Amino acid sequence: MRILVIVAHPNIEQSRVNKRWLAELREYPDQISVQELYKAYPDYEINVENEQDLVAKHDRIVFQFPIQWYSMPALLKKWLDDVFTTSWLFGAGGKAVAGKELVLAMSIGGDESSYQSGGLIGYTISELIRPFQAFANQIGMTFLPHYKFYGAVKAKDDKIENSAPHYVEHISSPDLNPMIVRKRMLDEMSEASSNPL
Ligand SMILES: Cc1cc2nc3c(=O)[nH]c(=O)nc-3n(C[C@H](O)[C@H](O)[C@H](O)COP(=O)(O)O)c2cc1C
Repeated sequence: MRILVIVAHPNIEQSRVNKRWLAELREYPDQISVQELYKAYPDYEINVENEQDLVAKHDRIVFQFPIQWYSMPALLKKWLDDVFTTSWLFGAGGKAVAGKELVLAMSIGGDESSYQSGGLIGYTISELIRPFQAFANQIGMTFLPHYKFYGAVKAKDDKIENSAPHYVEHISSPDLNPMIVRKRMLDEMSEASSNPL
């Protein structure tokens, strides 16, 4: 499985969480490709063909970003708008990204307790990222469980440090797709019941 991580942090030098995650990604150059959007396109002039080629060459696409105003940083939104054109997506028989997987990995300033109904913010992360899910559904990508890190602003260094290998493990796991895990379980059950021994 070829994994592409689109890292979208407007100020990675000042970052703690995303910078540490990026360093961990760099440990696996054979399995994980990384595209740092704000480094590649400081002027916001995206090379659309280059990005479409990158996406086409990978099976699982990860968007890694800090939550900003309950959404994504501006350049990631522009990247989505520029790269995922209808002519590219549906031109060649609708096959450009169909069957690929999409995973989000987010650092979140607020605490987990705030992100629940009745909490300070009142909405869960799953609710807030519905537009990404709708986007994935629309273009035939499989939207997989996300990775998130709450309390990113005040987090202690060891919590950030511990998250880095968990993050890479999460996005690399072939078992991230619950439908595949369920199918395997059902196959195993039917194999066991058909075996008289
Ligand atoms: C412009 C801006 C908007 C932000 N909006 C939110 C927000 O809506 N919710 C939240 O929990 N944190 C918010 N934050 C905090 C960031 O999510 C937090 O600083 C980031 O996840 C920390 O990760 P880093 O160490 O990689 O920079 C915001 C930060 C900035 C700079």
